[in-house]
Amino acid sequence: MRVLEIDHPLVAHKLTVLRNRDTHSSVFRQLADELVTLLAYEATRNVAVAPAEIQTPVSPMTGHRLTNPKPMVVPILRAGLGMLDGLTRLLPTAEVGFLGMVRNDETLEVTTYANRLPDDLSGRQCFVLDPMLATGHTLIAAVEYLHERGARDITCVTLLCAPEGLKTMEEQIDPSIDLTIVTAAIDEKLNEKGYIVPGLGDAGDRLFG
Ligand code: PRP
Repeated sequence: MRVLEIDHPLVAHKLTVLRNRDTHSSVFRQLADELVTLLAYEATRNVAVAPAEIQTPVSPMTGHRLTNPKPMVVPILRAGLGMLDGLTRLLPTAEVGFLGMVRNDETLEVTTYANRLPDDLSGRQCFVLDPMLATGHTLIAAVEYLHERGARDITCVTLLCAPEGLKTMEEQIDPSIDLTIVTAAIDEKLNEKGYIVPGLGDAGDRLFG
């Protein structure tokens, strides 16, 4: 498992405004969208392309185009929805599937309440969107779900990660999966309620009220 914490002044600036409890949800949505596009630049660094012959107005040349099957983008409902436009702006031809997952506030266990994904994800590069990796249980369940359907190349894009959740993922995810976590920041710790500290609060609530 690779973890990429993006070191960029615009990421740091936008994340700081997002974290601020006085930031209104309309600004929060806009900034989350912009941040994801910055993260998507790194997250798509290994997206599959193949040589393509084209003719410019001046001469023929060999360029590169995305290969088929197209990448699969999977926002985790509900908070991951706030990241979808930011990623598909860079990958407009990607297919979009959905996973609805919620964690129990007391036990922190994860339940999957909805899914809309192809049965066969063999050979598909998958981009999973979820702003928070706290205990890691939600993303572990999502990655295992995609793996069961044949996905082997999975990138999770998050805004914040807790070190505890990253460690759990590292321990529990099948090492044969080519897994990358791209994040704007790895925070200090998880608190007793399973919130990331200092974090930004409940991303779903801040995005959608
Ligand atoms: C939050 C967050 C992640 C999950 C992270 O979602 O958006 O999906 O918790 O926690 P974990 O790493 O400990 O599993 P939540 O369950 O609150 O649902 P929501 O997106 O509908 O608000």
